[in-house]
Amino acid sequence: MRLSRYFLPVLKETPSEAQIVSHRLMLRAGMIKQASAGIYSWLPLGYRVLRRIEQIVHEEQQRAGHIPLLMPTLQSAELWQESGRYDAYGPEMLRIRDRHDRDMLYGPTNEEMITDIFRSNVSSYKNLPLTLYHIQWKFRDEVRPRFGVMRGREFLMKDGYNFDLDYENAMIAYDRHMVSYLRTYERMGLKAIPMRADSGPIGGDDTHEFLVLADTGESEVFYDSAITDLRLGDRLVNYDDPAELRAICEEWTTPYARTDETHDETLYGEIPEDRRQTSRGIEVGQIFYFGTKYSEAMGAMVTTPDGARVPVHMGSHGIGVSRLLGAIIEASHDDRGIIWPEGVTPFHAGIVNLKQGDSATDAVCTELYAGLAAAGLSPLYDDREERAGAKFATMDLIGLPWRITAGPRGVAQGKVELTSRRTGESEEMSPAAAIAKVVELYKGIA
Ligand SMILES: Nc1ncnc2c1ncn2[C@@H]1O[C@H](COP(=O)(O)OP(=O)(O)OP(=O)(O)O)[C@@H](O)[C@H]1O
Ligand SMILES: [Mg+2]
Repeated sequence: MRLSRYFLPVLKETPSEAQIVSHRLMLRAGMIKQASAGIYSWLPLGYRVLRRIEQIVHEEQQRAGHIPLLMPTLQSAELWQESGRYDAYGPEMLRIRDRHDRDMLYGPTNEEMITDIFRSNVSSYKNLPLTLYHIQWKFRDEVRPRFGVMRGREFLMKDGYNFDLDYENAMIAYDRHMVSYLRTYERMGLKAIPMRADSGPIGGDDTHEFLVLADTGESEVFYDSAITDLRLGDRLVNYDDPAELRAICEEWTTPYARTDETHDETLYGEIPEDRRQTSRGIEVGQIFYFGTKYSEAMGAMVTTPDGARVPVHMGSHGIGVSRLLGAIIEASHDDRGIIWPEGVTPFHAGIVNLKQGDSATDAVCTELYAGLAAAGLSPLYDDREERAGAKFATMDLIGLPWRITAGPRGVAQGKVELTSRRTGESEEMSPAAAIAKVVELYKGIA
């Protein structure tokens, strides 16, 4: 993409309505525009990041054997009356009436709809285990939408649902989700810690929330600092091996990590003092085993190998896809702007031409662009007639992890400069070497 032909409406001033840095930076970098309270248009740059995040979520879900489908945003009230949640849900649910006076709603979640799909099509243990998921817009009429996409009213969520014959199998699905989530967040350059969560008034169910540490998070968290050293790295995970999944989950759930809702002072006190940490966290996902709650209410039954009919065991598992943009920026920025992790960056590298119109420099920039594109990368070429300072400021604000700068002086010596957005370090090299280096940096990522 050439910046002169792109649509990147960056703001010079800091928008006054934004209280936290990720919201300010998303507005300043021209990523989103508020349409109404808690509802946003995704401008081209924001949309690119959103799609990359979605892509990672899809890849990791499918790697775990989960199957994508797509359910609608608008739902009929009938299914929710069957489960009893139509009355229970409260004012967060946006209720709509169509022209035939039928009660509809904009889905805040999809347990009822997926249970209906399941019961209409599956009746035997032979079709289990099964996990279906989608990435779809949700609406929750939050009392206080705030912090930009972090707490929106309309937001994009990955929600997945497992169907299993019994508790033991449902726990395998639970572990599979935990591991796939760990991989997902790690690919996004995030440290998201699974923390035992509150399962609500019923209790007894298993649930973990995934929290990204950030001062602006809405939850208070308490943890053993040992957990922040854990990393999956390039470990190969065999999702068909329940023992391996269990071992990974145990590794991540043994160190103490809880939110204020489940915090236990006694257990916390048992952590060696120098490892006791308290901080704030952003919830970027949650996994939840709820057993037969919906299958019993809605009659989603399966026959067992002995011919008995039992309600199917279920869980639901969510990732806050649109919230993740805010969480990533909260975790990765400086006073000049965003610093995208390589896994989610909207463009892989920026090319800055210090003297647009200088034919040798223009030629080198074109060569850099073509070389990166030929390797399957997406460069953003700042080919505008602008001062160097303004070009650097834009690149720093939008946060591309790598920048290649070409100017007449360097070009005369066959050199360009490769700069890391994160460290600010620069290195001079030939255009071919710069292309090769950037390609190398994205190996296994892009
Ligand atoms: N209003 C929202 N705006 C953006 N993302 C959201 C919002 N509500 C939930 N999410 C994201 O969707 C994920 C799954 O939804 P879940 O039902 O667990 O939300 P939740 O626990 O009600 O969230 P919260 O406690 O933040 O209100 C959450 O972990 C979060 O990342
Ligand atoms: Mg939650």
